[in-house]
Amino acid sequence: MALLPILRFPDPRLRTIAKPVEAVDDALRALIDDMFETMYHEPGIGLAATQIDRHIRLIVMDVSDDKTNKRVLINPEIVASQGVQNCKEGCLSVPTVFAEVKRAETVTVRALDRDGQSYEYTVGGLEAVCIQHEMDHLDGKVFVDYLTPLKREMAMKKLAKYARAEQD
Ligand code: NI
Repeated sequence: MALLPILRFPDPRLRTIAKPVEAVDDALRALIDDMFETMYHEPGIGLAATQIDRHIRLIVMDVSDDKTNKRVLINPEIVASQGVQNCKEGCLSVPTVFAEVKRAETVTVRALDRDGQSYEYTVGGLEAVCIQHEMDHLDGKVFVDYLTPLKREMAMKKLAKYARAEQD
């Protein structure tokens, strides 16, 4: 397994629209394993292939504290959603920035698992937020896109400061 470099906002590659996965094979499963390792290492609760510069519709997630809720979503589609929630979000591509975003409270998602089997489930709370956030990545969207111009500017300054501190 290997840790993968994560694209950092505002890298234009984060704006790429991902293509559907065509084959769920061993090469894809190796990528999935690397994505989980990278996500847990950071640590984060979700990672879209877009963020590691692979532009296919693939997401890994685990919103648990103890690595017991691993989810693989290949070619995910939200088939139903309900309600509204505001949740403070962060993103491995936008380190140190956290901001409230309005999302659906529950979503029903249909996807393929790591064996290529289709499944569907309904979930609310943080996992629902995570699904919507990661699916945005596959469409070239980043959560800071939802912020007001002022809040986005503050976020960009914070990010620039972080990037400078990292270089020192
Ligand atoms: Ni993100």
